[in-house]
Amino acid sequence: MNHDTPHKRLFVALELPASVRELLEALQRQAPGIRPTPLANAHLTLRFLGDVPLAAVPALQNALRAVRAEPFDLRLQGLGLFARAGRGVFWAGLEESPDLVQLKRRVDAALAEANIPPDSGRFSPHITLSRLKSPPSPALRAYVAARANESAGSFRAERFMLFSSRLNPGGAVHTPEEAYPLRQGV
Ligand code: 2AM
Repeated sequence: MNHDTPHKRLFVALELPASVRELLEALQRQAPGIRPTPLANAHLTLRFLGDVPLAAVPALQNALRAVRAEPFDLRLQGLGLFARAGRGVFWAGLEESPDLVQLKRRVDAALAEANIPPDSGRFSPHITLSRLKSPPSPALRAYVAARANESAGSFRAERFMLFSSRLNPGGAVHTPEEAYPLRQGV
């Protein structure tokens, strides 16, 4: 996109409660040889939007305000690795959740109404614990394999969020832009 146009780098995500964050931080501490991604802003991304022109943001927010869904429970489950061009991502996974998939679909449908085309690729819900600078070591692979079924707690999703992300030399800084409550009986 043309970066002369004022824009924001945006994504839609669920926040994680402190209790889950602490469990994930313990998994990071025990993982061999990783550089942990700070979890202060840990989140579960539903949709990454990338750079959006400021002029398009109000319509996008209106679309997200129109999403209707009920609160639901999510359980963290297992660890995994994405191999991305010789690097990788070390992540925590979630137990399969039809409610989560449904919310993601509703968010995508609302955004499509606001002329934001659907993203390509499969939805792989995860929480990044570390971005690896080199392919995962055998020790990390073993650590992940041994915890395939380990639960890191559960939490109730009661709202979803629009976040902006600024890429700073010290890492991305995520700022909550707006919260969208999930409500019973909608
Ligand atoms: P990740 O942790 O797997 O990188 C903010 O960057 C959030 O959007 C992160 O949770 C990130 O997931 C997610 N995301 C998804 N696709 C992305 C992309 N192409 N570039 C940057 N972040 C992306």
